[in-house]
Amino acid sequence: MKRKRVAVLVSGRGSNLQALLDAAADPVFPAEVALVISNVAGVQALERAAKASVPTEIISHRDFPDRPSFEQALSKRLEQAGVELVCQAGFMRILTARFVEQWHNRLINIHPSLLPAFPGLDTHARALAAGVKLHGCSVHFVRAEVDSGPIIGQAAVPVLTGDTPESLAARVLQAEHGLYPRCLQLVAAEQVDLQGELVRLSEQEASNAQLFNPAPRM
Ligand code: GAR
Repeated sequence: MKRKRVAVLVSGRGSNLQALLDAAADPVFPAEVALVISNVAGVQALERAAKASVPTEIISHRDFPDRPSFEQALSKRLEQAGVELVCQAGFMRILTARFVEQWHNRLINIHPSLLPAFPGLDTHARALAAGVKLHGCSVHFVRAEVDSGPIIGQAAVPVLTGDTPESLAARVLQAEHGLYPRCLQLVAAEQVDLQGELVRLSEQEASNAQLFNPAPRM
């Protein structure tokens, strides 16, 4: 199967972009990163893309009078580049229903919580405040409602005594770097089965590992 052309939308550090670039460096990976678009100039994500010889573009929302015109420019560029899948990786703009519909089931996001818990911002501080014992990240197809849509995969990490939002964020981020390439691999290889608004993973793909926190008594 031909490798899918993927664009990654970024706004900052780009460590998830790096994980995708590293995965796509393997010629058997079913997706190639064809374009990186940032809505912010001068961010580390752009350096990472340049280092991997991936074309970059800055489309700043500040250059447009409103959200729809910004998104029109974004879509136009994605189409020009022949992009088949779009991955949001720390892209900090909310996309309108129109854009989301246009890229229906071709637009993927990573969010730093076990959705549907903690959509929105400050997920790690909110997880600590709620006292959850497992936290993590989710990769999902994007729908118009913020941080919603069919969940492709999730990774859970324990919340440990003494965790700060920063220490928890670092543990989750490491999980993100494993989860996002794996989910993109499944989508790009057309191994993700959408039944209505639910993703069904084949038994072969699904993990049967159990995560306990605290661990059960021996
Ligand atoms: C990641 O933790 C990602 O899940 C989160 O921003 C961080 C970006 O880091 N995304 C969101 O909060 C989206 N709502 P990165 O730029 O190093 O990949």
